[in-house]
Amino acid sequence: MDRFNTFRISIEAFYRAHKRDLPWRKEVPVPYEVWLSEIILQQTRVAQGTPYFEKILAAFPSVEALAGAEEDHLLALWTGLGYYNRARNLQKGAKQIVADFDGQLPNSFAELLTIKGIGPYTAAAIASICFKEKIGVVDGNVYRVLSRYFGIETPINSSSGQKEFQALANECIAGTKHPDLYNQGIMEFGALHCTPKKPHCMTCPIADSCHAHNSGTVLELPIKLKKGKRSKETIHFGVVERENLVALKKRGTDSIWAGLYEFPRLNDAPEQGQLMAEPIVHKLSHKDLYCSFWAVSEDEISGDFNFYSKPEAQQLGMPIIIADFVAKKL
Ligand code: ADE
Repeated sequence: MDRFNTFRISIEAFYRAHKRDLPWRKEVPVPYEVWLSEIILQQTRVAQGTPYFEKILAAFPSVEALAGAEEDHLLALWTGLGYYNRARNLQKGAKQIVADFDGQLPNSFAELLTIKGIGPYTAAAIASICFKEKIGVVDGNVYRVLSRYFGIETPINSSSGQKEFQALANECIAGTKHPDLYNQGIMEFGALHCTPKKPHCMTCPIADSCHAHNSGTVLELPIKLKKGKRSKETIHFGVVERENLVALKKRGTDSIWAGLYEFPRLNDAPEQGQLMAEPIVHKLSHKDLYCSFWAVSEDEISGDFNFYSKPEAQQLGMPIIIADFVAKKL
């Protein structure tokens, strides 16, 4: 048997034996639920993502319900997950599915790719899990497992690397009758067994034929090119309290936090104002935000803010640093 089939069969066996029982993993998977879970899991681990999945599915149990949601309601439920554009695109995708596909997710990789917010990874996951189409998924877990097992040193964040890994994933899945098990299996194997820093090589079912294990390079793979230095940005928030209300402002359409509510920003550290806490560092994928919160009077802030009570504020979509501040300091 060739290496691809040996590998694939072991991965499917691993999945049958060790798969986690997760709410969207059903005998007959529901495409909408698989889609929602995959979008959430792109930015979060299963343990942290599952409560979000349950909360969002309870609020919006169907594609139609998601399409008709108030954006603020969706963003409020998304608070803490980050990458809020994914929530906005999810809703745009739902609207498109209602308009063009009668509310049913399309059933092929090619058609899934036409939906807003569904890229090759998500399309491959939905098409294989729900419709048994043989397209390999490639995510962080898959890069790690494939690079180690097959000994691939091409950087995973280079365009040639991405093509090479996609081609390899497609070769591995080609021989199966169970694309759903193989794709979920390789992700599960990466998440549970072939982990980044402390992989379980001693009990690994495929260690004997693993290139990295046999050459002592497990912890060196996958190879990732170093990016430039992360940048820093300082943000001063003006916290204006009036009786039991606090001023918040909805961001426009301009930024990663578009449509979310935050304290009005100050151009600089204010001359009149009290620092309410140590600056908090908020790490984004590409930069570190140093956020200071200043107690100031209303004439220090500008723009179209409104006053909200704490419970009202907590129903709004906010970046997590703002939500935490509201919860702990107000
Ligand atoms: N991570 C993201 N999607 C996953 C899936 N379908 N199975 C296991 N881990 C995942």
